[in-house]
Amino acid sequence: MNQKFYRLLTSKNYLNLIKLFHKIFGEKFKKELNISKYYNYKVHRLNIIKNLIKRYNLKNYLEIGCDQDEVFSFIEIDHKVGVDPVSGGNLRMTSDSFFSNNNHKFDLIFIDGLHRYSQVKRDIQNSIKILNDKGIILIHDCMPFTFYDQACPRAQRKWNGDVWKAIVEFRTYQNISTYVGGFDNGIGMIIKNFNQNPLNIRNKSRSFRNLRYKDYYDNFVEYLNLVDIDKFYKIIDDNIRK
Ligand SMILES: C[S@@+](CC[C@H](N)C(=O)[O-])C[C@H]1O[C@@H](n2cnc3c(N)ncnc32)[C@H](O)[C@@H]1O
Repeated sequence: MNQKFYRLLTSKNYLNLIKLFHKIFGEKFKKELNISKYYNYKVHRLNIIKNLIKRYNLKNYLEIGCDQDEVFSFIEIDHKVGVDPVSGGNLRMTSDSFFSNNNHKFDLIFIDGLHRYSQVKRDIQNSIKILNDKGIILIHDCMPFTFYDQACPRAQRKWNGDVWKAIVEFRTYQNISTYVGGFDNGIGMIIKNFNQNPLNIRNKSRSFRNLRYKDYYDNFVEYLNLVDIDKFYKIIDDNIRK
């Protein structure tokens, strides 16, 4: 997608039109989450990434979706790769093209590209294949607060997309563990180990793409495996030192 097209898709008039579409054809349930018990406004993704690199002496960092390099430019590490088809990073391409040609493995992968369920699912699957054994995958924007934060197509500037649906799906896998930290729009974390708390989702017949905002609203703590910052670091610590 080029910059002009991106500007059009995020222009006020276009977004208002999409919002109207959601009002007429979208889900009727639109209550806002009460996140007061679960969310910490003070934690920022850059600090988490920098802390992890320092604490575990990580050597290889991959960021999918870099935009203004608000994170990428501050990462100090032996080898870093930033992939974005529009701006930022050091490789101008989509994540799909990157993964189809890449031969490197990484200790830390931050997924923050196209925030749509199918793309995030692919980005996670591809990342798992190139993650070192004790490696960590982080995923941005896993915790929308409102219907419009997650509605697809995008209907407002603040937008997390339906990344949460991919998280719910990976929560059901046996060979990886998935959590979401309740901060910075929800930072997902995936590590390779036996999942001791797989999500046993009741509506198995439906595909994850078709999950509804109401499902999320009713179950977000369990769906996301929501943790606070101390637990977030402890899980990583237990996994890396084991
Ligand atoms: C939310 S921004 C990333 C922000 C950045 N990671 C940060 O922490 O400040 C999302 C970026 O993903 C990029 N993007 C969109 N589609 C993509 C794709 N298929 N592969 C990789 N990046 C993509 C966009 O160009 C945009 O720059």
